[in-house]
Amino acid sequence: MKNSVCIRSGQIITDSDSRIADIFIEDGVIRQVGEKLLVPSDTREINTSGKLVLPGGVDVHVHLDLPMFDTISSDDHYTGMKAAAFGGTTTVIDFVPHDDLNFETNIARWHTKADNKAAVDFGFHMNVTRFSPQVLSQIPRLPEWGITSLKVFTAYNNRLRLADDQIKQVLQVARDAGILTMLHAEEGDEIEKLTAEAVRSGRKDPIWHARTRPAEGALTSARRIFSIAHQVKAPLYLVHMNTAGEAALLKESRRLGWQVMGETCPQYLFFTEKELERSDGSKWICSPPLRTEADQKALWSALREQIIEVISTDHCPFFYNGEQAIEYEGASCQILGKELGRDNFTKIPNGLPGVGDRLPVFWSKAVNTKILTPQRFVALTSTNPAKIFGLYPKKGAIQPGSDADIVIWDPLKSVRYGVSIARHRTDYNLYEDWNLQGFPEKVFLRGVNIVDDGAWNGRAGMGQFIPRKNSLMV
Ligand code: URP
Ligand code: ZN
Ligand code: ZN
Repeated sequence: MKNSVCIRSGQIITDSDSRIADIFIEDGVIRQVGEKLLVPSDTREINTSGKLVLPGGVDVHVHLDLPMFDTISSDDHYTGMKAAAFGGTTTVIDFVPHDDLNFETNIARWHTKADNKAAVDFGFHMNVTRFSPQVLSQIPRLPEWGITSLKVFTAYNNRLRLADDQIKQVLQVARDAGILTMLHAEEGDEIEKLTAEAVRSGRKDPIWHARTRPAEGALTSARRIFSIAHQVKAPLYLVHMNTAGEAALLKESRRLGWQVMGETCPQYLFFTEKELERSDGSKWICSPPLRTEADQKALWSALREQIIEVISTDHCPFFYNGEQAIEYEGASCQILGKELGRDNFTKIPNGLPGVGDRLPVFWSKAVNTKILTPQRFVALTSTNPAKIFGLYPKKGAIQPGSDADIVIWDPLKSVRYGVSIARHRTDYNLYEDWNLQGFPEKVFLRGVNIVDDGAWNGRAGMGQFIPRKNSLMV
């Protein structure tokens, strides 16, 4: 017997359309979308009139179970994906660290971490943070392992950074293999120098994290690599855009027809570096750091003007106070966190929670405020990332043949948001006490109702690794 569901009479929002219709799902796949659909008698019927129906969110930038400094990001592939689901996101892409020279070894290790825990569907990007002819020769093999994107860094000297001429070679090989190169743009040498100076002169408060990683450095390194990518005709995707300069660079490069795309993240839209001056400023430490109001304004404009085409989260949570346990699924859980850098910002693990916050926060602050239409919201949070990262139309779409990853969205539901509502495995939330309106009511992963009015019906291991195709320019 086939497992079938019919979602009736909801207002379906896609990246380009909005209409009231029914969705018939069989064995996890959308079979029909239309009015007054006739369906088999054993179909489970769900009436969603008055609600919105969105494609599941796609967050293409998360770091789960990632070792950093003397600890590890506090969400693993179960807890982080469960939090994603509660926030309406049904697909995430995580980064595989390049610890071993051999990609296959790293990828296998990441599958060991993820496969039995995954609670939503997922993919991997490969970090390329070591360089040798052997590394270059493995890049064309990434699609064999279902990976069609890689990330390079111009910062983190002697750890993750590649030299510009090495990045050029990676871009060329990736281009020939149909692989999209992602860029973390910050100026490594300058950061090393400014950090050493700050520490030497006793400037160890969290605000110095931002002051030692200036916005100009993000722009100069992005500009250099954009120009190299254009020279070798390779596509490039700028991650976690955070400065007005990057927004202007992306705008100009796209006007010139260069193959460049970019994402920003909610933290850069809603907070500034002023947060780092608070007594609990370490909660907002991430790299690249939060910037100024002028940067925020430019990022919002770039979203409105369709220059920035993706909102991801760079979800990489840590406990604020890892000396104290929290309760998670009825058990005590304690993981070292931001307190590691209580006396020295260089020891604060970099990263923020966000995978579950993205849709509800962004809906309230961008759609309810009429900055963006609901269609643009879907484009930025689901359809565009699915297209760029080779998941479309399996993901990011509500059409026959797509996976039935669907969010029933209650546009009238008001919540006082915060750590108790977000399901991240950490002890704080950046949006504590924010009043939000519009929230996921039910979330389906391939037709299975994994979140149902606040109840969790999902389980570890039900998320599937999705081998990806080549990216599409949007
Ligand atoms: O602070 C952050 N964002 N940590 C994650 C690593 C990265 O570069 O995205
Ligand atoms: Zn990065
Ligand atoms: Zn990241």
